[in-house]
Amino acid sequence: MPSSKLENQMLVIFGASGDLTARKLIPAILNLAKGGHLPENFVVLGASRSAWSDEEFRKNVVTESKHLKIASDQKSQELLASFTNKLFYHELGSDQDSDYSAFNSRIMALDKEFQTDKNYIFYLSVPPSAHESISRNLHDQNLDDETDGWKRLIVEKPFGYSLETAKNLNAILQKYFKESQIFRIDHYLGKETVQNLLVTRFANSIFEPLWNRNYIHHVEITNAESGGVEKRGGYYDKSGALRDMFQSHLLQIVALVIMEPPLNANAEEIRNEKLKALKSLRIMNDPETLEKNTIRGQYIASVIDGEKVNGYREEEDVDPDSTTETYAALKFYVDNWRWADVPFYVRTAKRMPTKVTEVVIHFKTPHHQIFKDSGMQNKDNKLVIRIQPDEGILVKFGVKVPGQGFKVERANLDFYYSSLVENHVMEAYERLLLDAMQGDATLYARADEVEAAWAFVDPILNYWKESHAKVYGYAAGVWGPENADDLIDSIGYWRNPGENLTDDPGFCVIC
Ligand code: BG6
Repeated sequence: MPSSKLENQMLVIFGASGDLTARKLIPAILNLAKGGHLPENFVVLGASRSAWSDEEFRKNVVTESKHLKIASDQKSQELLASFTNKLFYHELGSDQDSDYSAFNSRIMALDKEFQTDKNYIFYLSVPPSAHESISRNLHDQNLDDETDGWKRLIVEKPFGYSLETAKNLNAILQKYFKESQIFRIDHYLGKETVQNLLVTRFANSIFEPLWNRNYIHHVEITNAESGGVEKRGGYYDKSGALRDMFQSHLLQIVALVIMEPPLNANAEEIRNEKLKALKSLRIMNDPETLEKNTIRGQYIASVIDGEKVNGYREEEDVDPDSTTETYAALKFYVDNWRWADVPFYVRTAKRMPTKVTEVVIHFKTPHHQIFKDSGMQNKDNKLVIRIQPDEGILVKFGVKVPGQGFKVERANLDFYYSSLVENHVMEAYERLLLDAMQGDATLYARADEVEAAWAFVDPILNYWKESHAKVYGYAAGVWGPENADDLIDSIGYWRNPGENLTDDPGFCVIC
């Protein structure tokens, strides 16, 4: 059954011949079709520089795509056929800046034929350099005009390269579209477990009263990927871990961890609080603070599971003298009443031992120690919020070891998403596309949020560039440079998570 909330509409994808369309967008839309979420009248129009026909587009992103899993039963095949017939393609000029009148006519013809009610989403899956020409051309063709049907613009990252470029980009987009029409996508916000941060905090009275400087000792966030830069060396070498992951995905997670309770769950209320949270990050400006609180690293060649793995500088399209970081770790503070003096430790890296993202809230030890010989030292309570994989939540707390005296051991209380009866977890892109189709911007970043995130990141990038701060090497497949722990002064080491939620730090699979 089509979702009753969704109005008839057309999704126009710029950059349709690119990797993201085949890898993420089309599979997400097909899943929405399978789940009965698409509106009655719906078509996709791919647009790009490649000279493809409708048939070639369909072949590349559906029938011959390696990214789709399609069952062979008759029902699935019928659904696939009807889905494929709704995909169309239009070749834009060589620089996406040609005359858009033919493109406009194509949109109007499809709209008339499929009755999509002049409701259009324009998805910009193109490099930022193309944003201006595309939005200007759409505007010139009146395709931003909402007199008849709504118009929305989804913008993929990278959203700027610095505070200045992000501001310029916002100004350009806002020149042609209203802010309420612009949806800046951050796929981490589409992850169920990231959204669950809000529920964990604001739907449970057992956590929120403790969620402050009185009870929390420090907060640790790890985002590790086992893969390297793969085929994206050209992009990544100009970006680096701080721009690629931290400025966007990780600062969004930080904002959800530190924000104050919003008045309600409306998009603007939540985004207002996130903005306030991001603005309360203490910006590190002086070289001494930056030197003490930031570390960057780069993976070097190594052997993993018997296979030689390239170092970063040997990767395709990477400058052999590159100083781009593939590892970034920061310690910082949040200047507000709730978080004064609580250190935040956040790291992100490629070529780590495993792929994992988690937030760990480390609670303070009890103010008055009754069980002095209990062996409780360094066994503080922890709340581990596992974003991926093995999604779930883990509470670590002390229990009495049976027998005489009061020896305390740490026990686990764990919850796994996979244990829910209704455990179909939508892919991030699926969820975010559905939201944009419904006009819900809650999980999209607003212009001011993006700028606040850059305001924090910019001085770090400038310091790294101007001071020639050291880039430490680490062998591909280990938990970062040798001195990575230097940053964590209060406890001395990072919690290195394993593949599963309850694996204790240091856990690893040997064969
Ligand atoms: C992207 C980054 O935004 O997120 C990639 O550009 C990174 O470099 C990816 O690999 C990680 O996403 P996920 O969902 O696999 O953690």
